[in-house]
Amino acid sequence: MSANNNLDLFAEMTGVATDVDRLFDLLLQVPSDARADLYKAMRHSAIGGGKRLRPLLVVATARLFNVDQSFALRAGTAVEALHVYSLIHDDLPCMDDDNLRRGKPTAHVAFDEATAVLAGDALHALAFELLTDQATHPDPFVRAEMASCLAKAAGPSGMAGGQMMDLAAEDASFDLQTVTRLQQLKTGALIAACVEIGAILGKLPEEGRKGLRGYANDVGLAFQIADDILDVEGDEEKAGKALQKDADAGKETFLSLMGADRAKEQAQMLVDQAKAHLHGFGEQADLLRAIAEFSVERDR
Ligand code: IPE
Ligand code: IPE
Ligand code: MG
Ligand code: MG
Ligand code: MG
Repeated sequence: MSANNNLDLFAEMTGVATDVDRLFDLLLQVPSDARADLYKAMRHSAIGGGKRLRPLLVVATARLFNVDQSFALRAGTAVEALHVYSLIHDDLPCMDDDNLRRGKPTAHVAFDEATAVLAGDALHALAFELLTDQATHPDPFVRAEMASCLAKAAGPSGMAGGQMMDLAAEDASFDLQTVTRLQQLKTGALIAACVEIGAILGKLPEEGRKGLRGYANDVGLAFQIADDILDVEGDEEKAGKALQKDADAGKETFLSLMGADRAKEQAQMLVDQAKAHLHGFGEQADLLRAIAEFSVERDR
């Protein structure tokens, strides 16, 4: 099935980004007390910027099952809150020590380290507050399943575990299999959770989720290969973050292990495979197909 030419990925992305910004703005009104800087730091990192790929994935998947768009947006914003927390902590001096994120100073530069740590903590909590809020879905079983899904994706067998492996990668020389596992945890787990949460919102039974899970795993890996390619070949202005970091830190990536050409072939192969997993869905999955293509064609 070829992608629908009428589908405007840019318009879909912009629409989701506007809605995510609006929801963060509503949720993070700055109080006039001693917590003001915490809220300001959360707003600084969460509002205005980022591709909002994760909320878009939740929206695109939920749409397959005609889920109310406002539920999907709230759930997508929850995953984005968790993602922003992971970026704030990833940029800290004790981790990647970066000064630029989404074209702006990182949270610990714009505020200070302690405030940045707390802003990350608070965004992590906000993610679960949102997922378990009645306004995100009236069915408590759906809310509990979404919260459980995100918790697993963020923890030691997901994102945090991948970040730990990523730190270890500075001193070890990992082989392709280990780098693949690292990337699946660091980036893939959260991307997979977006698609899973879309399916949970749609009340899709477990046995119906195989194709979507295959899609999400392939997109997650392709997306991180693209991040590694951008790190070497990208434009800092467009990416809005410092590049050339992986080689400097001595980290093995898909690029360092297989070279740029083969890494690009591998990413494209994963995109084709991701789209093949959607064969059971018709035109209504065109947004997911377009996201798969974008995950490797992007320049930011
Ligand atoms: C960057 O994520 C960190 C990775 C997991 C590779 P994104 O590339 O999605 O960053 P934003 O959200 O668009 O800023
Ligand atoms: C960060 O990976 C992944 C998470 C925040 C979980 P990177 O360190 O490669 O991301 P960038 O390149 O700083 O965006
Ligand atoms: Mg990192
Ligand atoms: Mg980093
Ligand atoms: Mg990177």
